[in-house]
Amino acid sequence: RIAYVNGRYTPHSEACVHVEDRGYQFSDGVYEVCEIRDGHLIDETRHLVRLERSLDELRIARPMTRAALKCVLREVLRRNRVRDGIVYLQVTRGVSRRDHIFPPTHVTPAVVVTARSLDPSRSSKAAEQGISVITLPDNRWDRVDIKAVSLLPNVLAKQAAKEAGAKEAWFVDADGYVTEGASTNAWIVTPDGELVTRPAEQGILRGVTRTTLIDVLEKKGLRFVERPFTVEEAKKAREAFITAATQITMPVVRIDDTMVADGKPGPVTQALRAVFHDVAE
Ligand code: PDD
Repeated sequence: RIAYVNGRYTPHSEACVHVEDRGYQFSDGVYEVCEIRDGHLIDETRHLVRLERSLDELRIARPMTRAALKCVLREVLRRNRVRDGIVYLQVTRGVSRRDHIFPPTHVTPAVVVTARSLDPSRSSKAAEQGISVITLPDNRWDRVDIKAVSLLPNVLAKQAAKEAGAKEAWFVDADGYVTEGASTNAWIVTPDGELVTRPAEQGILRGVTRTTLIDVLEKKGLRFVERPFTVEEAKKAREAFITAATQITMPVVRIDDTMVADGKPGPVTQALRAVFHDVAE
């Protein structure tokens, strides 16, 4: 395997960043995960637009143009011969003697790109069964709209999910409303067939898969509303599912100790999963 590190393509096993990289010391960096399907980067532009926004919000300089970054992504895919899988892209504020204050302007951002193959049939198999989620208080900071590499609450939540035999943890705000998953956005289908997901402006990451799925819903003329929903409402929903790059729509069949409907993946979730890539670019 080959990784891209600051302008060089190096064997993955030898790919290193400096001990004084600010990503390492302060989580002072941002990232993107993009799905690769049949050799194509799904929703690549949307991911790069979001990366630029994350960088701008943190006042990290853009390491290169969007076009140049696209070339690097393609080269990493080519060198790793990835047809189906993921590409990971990380930009940190760079390497400088440890100091909370931003480093001098001559310090350039550090860029890492890795890719790996994933068997798409594994995700399909999981989708046939559906997954369980647990719910936890949302204890993250209030800038989760930035896709920063500081993911400790997410790591702890995901580990708690695993230890409870679940695949994802849904964060819940102080009023009992679901915000989002540790690495996914949360959705339900109400008993009268309306799709619901939380507004992107209200304490969640604006998922690229979420945005593209909204395009799908609009194209198909499905009933859809952006509003917060509670854990209680989700437990009584007709269907529940999550979205993220590489998961498309993944059915949620259990929330904590409650089965969602009959405990089987629902038809809306499955239908959206089937048509998603017709719309995604
Ligand atoms: N996570 N919410 C959070 C907190 C996320 O970390 C992610 C993505 C999403 C979904 O966003 P998108 O549809 O753009 O993948 C929502 C990536 C996959 C990760 O951290 O691995």
